[in-house]
Amino acid sequence: MPEDSSYSNRPRDRLARIQPFLEPTIAQARGAWYTDGMGRRHLDMLSGCWCSVLGHNHPRFIRSLKGQVEHLIHLGTGYISDEVIRGADALLSTLDDAQGATPTAGAGPGDYKVAFVNTGSEAVDLAVKFAKAATGRQGVVTSDRGYYGASSSVYHYMGLPKKDFMGQATGCHQVLAPDCPACPVGETYPSCAFACVDASERRLREAGAPDAGVAALLFEPILSAGGMVFPPPGYLERLQTTARRLGALFISNEVTTGAGRTGRWFAYQHSSVTPDAIAFGKGFGNGLPVAGVLVRADVEEAAYSAGLVHIQSHQSDPLSGFVVAEVIGLIRELGLVKRAEVMGDELKAKLERVSRETGGIGSVRGLGLMTGFTVRDDGPGLHADLSARGIVTCYRPAYDTIQLMPPYTISRAELDHFIAGLVASLRTRQEGSRVPREVSD
Ligand SMILES: Cc1ncc(COP(=O)(O)O)c(C=O)c1O
Repeated sequence: MPEDSSYSNRPRDRLARIQPFLEPTIAQARGAWYTDGMGRRHLDMLSGCWCSVLGHNHPRFIRSLKGQVEHLIHLGTGYISDEVIRGADALLSTLDDAQGATPTAGAGPGDYKVAFVNTGSEAVDLAVKFAKAATGRQGVVTSDRGYYGASSSVYHYMGLPKKDFMGQATGCHQVLAPDCPACPVGETYPSCAFACVDASERRLREAGAPDAGVAALLFEPILSAGGMVFPPPGYLERLQTTARRLGALFISNEVTTGAGRTGRWFAYQHSSVTPDAIAFGKGFGNGLPVAGVLVRADVEEAAYSAGLVHIQSHQSDPLSGFVVAEVIGLIRELGLVKRAEVMGDELKAKLERVSRETGGIGSVRGLGLMTGFTVRDDGPGLHADLSARGIVTCYRPAYDTIQLMPPYTISRAELDHFIAGLVASLRTRQEGSRVPREVSD
């Protein structure tokens, strides 16, 4: 067996333990595959951290990136480049290019402006900052089981377990998660008539949120870290009514769901809502740290008049603008929004067949290439088995759910490779035998 010769396989005790350090060390990434330091290949069913939507190191992306890096990377605060304007135009163009969806009134390209930052956490933070400046209010309503990023500011919005040492922020409230199979108010869709939202509104009133003033209702159109919760039709429209009743801005957190992941450029485009701001990130950078906010022009105007200033070293870098325009251009040229829809449907159908034939998985759900399924028995074990077979997935223990977010360029053969590994893993576990450590492609 070859030795792992990578430098980083030496003891990792120089790195602060703020994250898990997975084995093995990855030496290279191409398409939907990682190659580790021992030369072993791993099928990446997650596009890195849901980011490399074109596939790792897409040759055309890399070629044009090299050209831009030689040309212009960074400028001082306040300087604007053609690249940034092109990036903004490309982003705005996605608002009326929703794979056949008709943009709702007031939600077209001319209705928004663009602000660039670097990470999804910063994008969400900036979207809320716009809302606070524009409304003059402080409260923020998010969702139970929602995730909005890691920085101290957005951490408090999270609807997942939090660390006591982070303390409590005031003015943060949450609506109930729209998890129909485990309805938080014990009702059934559609006869429930969104009783979960009614209950959430009561909860907000009891907490005094409307009196204290709510700046933003910040929602994930699909709860991702919260266990892959896909709200039923009409839910976002009902939630928008809540935002309007509160006088709050309605902000779609599309950091994970954007860039075509669900078969539309943004997941809210599967509904008829009109967000006041849209936070984006991840896929639009295709592996580079590019993120930002699409904000309605009237909100931008109000925030500007209220004196909003937001300056960071790398916002509006020419490289970021270039990357966004290039990624959007390639996604369009290669038809990848449609492909995400088609391949996502195929993946879901294959998983449903696995569920029927093995009984090992249940509740398959997905929209485009944003897919999840519940594990019937020993989720951690199945996740570890898959990983031992060279298949990279994400396991959400609190919800017994495996999450799949592959690149849009993933091939049918690669999906079949994943399914074969999953079936073998389930069968091996059902037979109670040991998982072989080495499986060839
Ligand atoms: C829904 C959602 N919002 C925000 C973020 C934060 O983005 P970033 O990790 O780029 O700061 C993430 C990251 O996973 C996310 O999934």
